[in-house]
Amino acid sequence: MYYSRIIGSGGYLPERVMSNAELEALVDTSDEWIQARTGIRKRHIAREDETTSEMCYYAARRAIECAGVAPDSIELIVVATSTPDLIYPSSACLLQRRLGIRNGAPAFDVQAVCSGFIYALSITDQYIRAGAMQRALVVGADMNSRILDWRDRTTCVLFGDGAGAALLERSDSPGIYKTLLHADGSYSDHLQVPSGVSKPSADPFIRMRGNEVFKFAVQAMDEIVGETLADTGLQQQDIDWLVPHQANQRIIAATVKKLGMSMDQVILTVGEHGNTSAASIPLALDAGLRDGRIKQGDIILMEAVGGGFTWGSALVRY
Ligand code: UT7
Repeated sequence: MYYSRIIGSGGYLPERVMSNAELEALVDTSDEWIQARTGIRKRHIAREDETTSEMCYYAARRAIECAGVAPDSIELIVVATSTPDLIYPSSACLLQRRLGIRNGAPAFDVQAVCSGFIYALSITDQYIRAGAMQRALVVGADMNSRILDWRDRTTCVLFGDGAGAALLERSDSPGIYKTLLHADGSYSDHLQVPSGVSKPSADPFIRMRGNEVFKFAVQAMDEIVGETLADTGLQQQDIDWLVPHQANQRIIAATVKKLGMSMDQVILTVGEHGNTSAASIPLALDAGLRDGRIKQGDIILMEAVGGGFTWGSALVRY
């Protein structure tokens, strides 16, 4: 029986930092409101000439260096993003080119908005478990600044840009115990960018019924914990770290309370990064691994909710 385990991580955030005070000059908002309702203090915003695949590249390179493997030994590249450079080729193919990998490894994108990294991780885990691959690169990246309406205070204060990456390798023991994926498309109107290729519109920006999303997220994150632990032999008290999607500190706090955990057991980045969609979990994971909080053998619960709605989780021993 095979499992996959994480052998390296990397993150990338654009250089430019935008504070809440700067947003006060753009829309009718305040640092107090943003911090009290979301926990966000600042976010990173990409340069005009920066691309998603470039952010992926820096995060991936750090993960590859961290794992100490040769790029050519990577047998699969999956990028989770809702903000690709182009309609096609996929960001994963563009990343493969930037990394100089020419071994014929499959590369493709996954689009599940803020749950994208969990979706990509789960897909990759299935390939490795099945014995089809030994080593894979999973990246979550989003350039939300390009699809924000900077006149809409209900969305523009929430999001940021970034990328995070994880290298996965086949192992005889977990590793990833379990991943769970869910979707309910009947909620597609609650959080969307109402413009695309077959249905272009004059509104290419994120539109969200924040309150509805909030309520759904709190409930979904509560329900998925028991479902994730089932049949793993692990209990709630075995979880050392929560590495959640970072949309709103209040959603995370509600999950922590339900889990009977403390906020000290959460890798919290929303204050510094805002909501970076598919990048938020791998960026938080990378932060926790690099500063030494997450140690070898620790049990990590990752969970996310995003547009679709999509939601999912991963239970991992580092
Ligand atoms: O990553 C994908 C998933 N996304 C999420 O999980 C986001 C989920 N939703 C949320 O995080 C929260 O719903 C928000 C942070 C978006 C909003 O917080 P809320 O506590 O649900 O506020 P609300 O939408 O109920 O709005 C409360 C008030 C409204 O004013 P009135 O109608 O009560 O007079 C808003 O117009 O706050 C107002 N408001 C703002 N005020 C200052 C909304 N945005 C702002 C703002 N600054 N930026």
